[in-house]
Amino acid sequence: MLDRKARQAGERVAPGIFGNRIIDLARQLGQHSELPDALMCTYFSQVHKAVAVQLRDWMRAAGLSAEIDAVGNVVGRHSGAAGATKSLLVGSHYDTVANAGLFDGRLGILTGLVVADHLNRIGRQLPFHLDIVAFSEEEGVRFSAPYLGSGAIAGRFDESTLARRDQNNVSLATVLRKEGVDLAAIRALARPPETLRGYLEVHIEQGPVLLERDLPVGIVTSIVGSARFRVTVEGVAGHAGTVPMSLRRDAAAAAAEIVLAVERRCFAAADLVGTVGQLAVPHGLINVIPGRCELSLDLRSSDDVTREAAISDIRAEIEQIAKRRRVTAVITELSHHLAAPCAQSMQSALAEAIARAAVEPFFLPSGAGHDGEMFAGITDIGMLFVRCGNGGISHSPLETVTAEDADLAARILLDVLVNLN
Ligand code: GLV
Ligand code: MN
Ligand code: MN
Repeated sequence: MLDRKARQAGERVAPGIFGNRIIDLARQLGQHSELPDALMCTYFSQVHKAVAVQLRDWMRAAGLSAEIDAVGNVVGRHSGAAGATKSLLVGSHYDTVANAGLFDGRLGILTGLVVADHLNRIGRQLPFHLDIVAFSEEEGVRFSAPYLGSGAIAGRFDESTLARRDQNNVSLATVLRKEGVDLAAIRALARPPETLRGYLEVHIEQGPVLLERDLPVGIVTSIVGSARFRVTVEGVAGHAGTVPMSLRRDAAAAAAEIVLAVERRCFAAADLVGTVGQLAVPHGLINVIPGRCELSLDLRSSDDVTREAAISDIRAEIEQIAKRRRVTAVITELSHHLAAPCAQSMQSALAEAIARAAVEPFFLPSGAGHDGEMFAGITDIGMLFVRCGNGGISHSPLETVTAEDADLAARILLDVLVNLN
């Protein structure tokens, strides 16, 4: 049953007060970038640290007790009412891909922030602590270590990632050591499951479904499962003018076949996608037969059986291509995550709040990965998607969200929070 006072706390908010602020703060954050003419914010760069400090300061100005933790997460608490023991986490990530949009990850942080600010202003405490969390590393751009920030808080930090190296050959372990962070400090970030009330994330949809249905928001049913690999193909470098075609062991030509094999296999099942987003010929030159080629591979499906079958078929096909072309192909798994269902309780809480906002509750799966999947199985997770403009383009500067939709998302989040117990 809804407590009337609780309902009113959500309803008192005049439309519009959250949305413009969210967009304005996202634009301000977007000023911090590693690239002169595009947005990029990667793990523990100077820019990344500046964004963390900015978020911490905004959280403090919003009345939260906020700190930056050992792995760079910014955690701000709106303390619960007397006797509160558990925390509800509302979070998303502040790291970005290269040439990113302003809203991937940040929309969720800023929505949580303005809602917590509002609760603080009206002096409203919840029966649990409200922890707004800006996760430090979700994309995995610098160290191929996605969900590093959320993984640490969920107690799922993957220690094997410490050996991974960035483009400049600096390991994650070295970066953390320089920051004065050791494994014990990372392990100490893990929240015991019994201290969690749940996890909620607001995120831009990053696709066209809501846009096409003319709906501002949607309820996520599950987060896609994914596996990421690096494939290193070794052939033999040689002179581009002197080695006959039949004698070549061209690593890039083998990689090209692999790319097409991935595409073909992923066309063979609905709900399966595969992407080779990186393809490099180290020391490649116009007049040298490629001796080595490195490619990335990202395979996703919300159905774990479908994805695992594709992984095994693609592995076998890569082996065959390598054998036929007399090259070697080494496949290294970088990450592997099962699909994560959102809790029925959180889906219902979101659906009720959406209906109270006079919007049709609409359910959809997420094809993108999200920090929430680190908390699945540990606490109840819920996600609210917000319509993505420009045909649903994301991981691109063309990504857009309207102030109206952001405003509605914040009001829905507030309504959910004041009605959870
Ligand atoms: C994160 O954006 C992902 O789904 O790769
Ligand atoms: Mn992303
Ligand atoms: Mn994201």
